[in-house]
Amino acid sequence: MNYCIANWKMNKTLSESIKFLEEFKKKDLENIKSKIILCPSFTSLKILETHLTGTKIELGSQNVHQKKRGAYTGEISVEMLKEIECEWVILGHSERRQYFLEEDVIINDKMNTVIESDLKPILCIGENESQRNKNETFDVLKNQLSTALSNITLTSKMLIAYEPVWAIGTGLSANFDQINEVVNWISQFLLQEFSLKVPILYGGSVSAVNCESIISLENVSGFLIGTSALDVNEFSRICSIVNER
Ligand code: PGA
Repeated sequence: MNYCIANWKMNKTLSESIKFLEEFKKKDLENIKSKIILCPSFTSLKILETHLTGTKIELGSQNVHQKKRGAYTGEISVEMLKEIECEWVILGHSERRQYFLEEDVIINDKMNTVIESDLKPILCIGENESQRNKNETFDVLKNQLSTALSNITLTSKMLIAYEPVWAIGTGLSANFDQINEVVNWISQFLLQEFSLKVPILYGGSVSAVNCESIISLENVSGFLIGTSALDVNEFSRICSIVNER
């Protein structure tokens, strides 16, 4: 099973989200074998859920709080997501790490809460440019994975998204060899350290032009897509290409 996940970030109002979905539903993706997950803003989640009835498209949130309830002004809980049938949650996105100071220990707490609540995490990991230049990529990934996955009940109902920070939103995706090397390493590491076999996705400037070669890599099971998922034609093209694999 391959995955095409749209991370809309802080883009698309409610009416824009509905417009996208209505256009997207016309794209003849009914026989799609891969899983399509839309991650809109919190304000669009509930309405999109009603517009998804009768489709195989699923919903994800871009974040959730690690506590189940309480005095955390401005936050959203797992119960709130469950009640509106949002099944997936992106965790550890590099923008949350960078702008909201989400550290691996917080991500570990969130992973625990999400898994305990029977929601499915999409855990994002990746090195930044200076870490790659200093040959620290595998140390960074090892730390991120070891902390995020430590002392929690692991499930195969989760996804890992390898997103090199330097490739996100830059229009410059990692190259074929770089992606191949890292996803193979992640897959080995998860197996050795956690006896875990889960789908690994790639994210970072994925487009309709580069997705075909990347999805042909043995250990890449789909994409987490930002910019290219904002345009309904581009996103559907990617979904069709991934579907042929
Ligand atoms: P991008 O974003 O496709 O615009 O690079 C990917 C992401 O941040 O998940």
